[in-house]
Amino acid sequence: MRTIFWDDGVVMVDQTLLPERFEILVCKTVHQLAEAIKRLAVRGAPALEAAGAYGIALAAYERDFNDLVEIKKHIQDAARLLASTRPTAVNLFVGIERALKAAMSGDSIEEVRKLALQEAERIAEEDVERNKKLGEYGAELIEDGSTIMTYCNAGRLATVDWGTALGVVRSAVSQGKRVKVIACETRPLNQGSRLTCWELIQDGIDVTLITDSMAGIVMQKSMVDCVIVGADRIVRDAVFNKIGTYTVAVLAKHHGIPFYVAAPRATFDWNRSMKEVTIEERSRDELIYCGNRLLAPENVRVYNPAFDPTPLDLVSAIITEYGIIREPYSENVPKILEL
Ligand code: MRU
Repeated sequence: MRTIFWDDGVVMVDQTLLPERFEILVCKTVHQLAEAIKRLAVRGAPALEAAGAYGIALAAYERDFNDLVEIKKHIQDAARLLASTRPTAVNLFVGIERALKAAMSGDSIEEVRKLALQEAERIAEEDVERNKKLGEYGAELIEDGSTIMTYCNAGRLATVDWGTALGVVRSAVSQGKRVKVIACETRPLNQGSRLTCWELIQDGIDVTLITDSMAGIVMQKSMVDCVIVGADRIVRDAVFNKIGTYTVAVLAKHHGIPFYVAAPRATFDWNRSMKEVTIEERSRDELIYCGNRLLAPENVRVYNPAFDPTPLDLVSAIITEYGIIREPYSENVPKILEL
């Protein structure tokens, strides 16, 4: 089943409830979708690309309009609302922009609706195809019997289907390779323990959960052959991914373990540098509560950035649907991706 799709509204797996409950959430308005994005019911950069695009289609269908001017104005307002939900994953903006451009080229209310939805469906299809391609390329890097560490969730749930980092794992497994995964829990929202472990167990892939603070010891004990993570935005000097990725990359470098990033072309924002990217800061409650239980004094000062930049010199290779890109990135990224 796809993580996000269109069926008279934007339909998604509600990721906040996993692994306790598997529930489907249907957003019938752009406001509902914006809330779903903010509270991470849908999350992961490629899934956000589809969500942004479907959001534009939703704006076109969510109510009646008197004329072309009115529907286009409503869609532009919706694009601004969707773009204000989360700042770091560039794919969200790519999805919004593509569907917006398609919608704006329509000459009637019906055509605007059709074009917006067509583009959103195209983006969703493309995501599945590019993840399969990326997975095939990435699987070349995986030897039979490997143990792969991953961080956060860059799997089916973070994309429309298949996954990026976990897409590589799935492709290697489907080629008959025996692969084991070590999943870091990924505090504070535990995408690793809740989502990565859940989806790998669903697929019968061998997974072991560790806390983020155990990443060092498993590398020291030679229990990891390589690390593969996804990305929210790749700029010319760094890869932005879930907070804690940078720490794992430093550890991997120290232990001589390859650190791979798996991401589609749409995740590249090559004209920008690390300093120009806004890192989302999230609620203090994510650190001081576990459900209703206090984990820290309620009045403690909290710093809760959701992403960190890993400098590109810590990255052994970037796995894309166009092939595997290695250093020098300043030359090879624009050449291979035609950016
Ligand atoms: O805050 P999230 O859960 O949206 O963060 C997601 C990540 O950091 C993923 O690793 C990234 O989006 C890559 S998903 C293929």
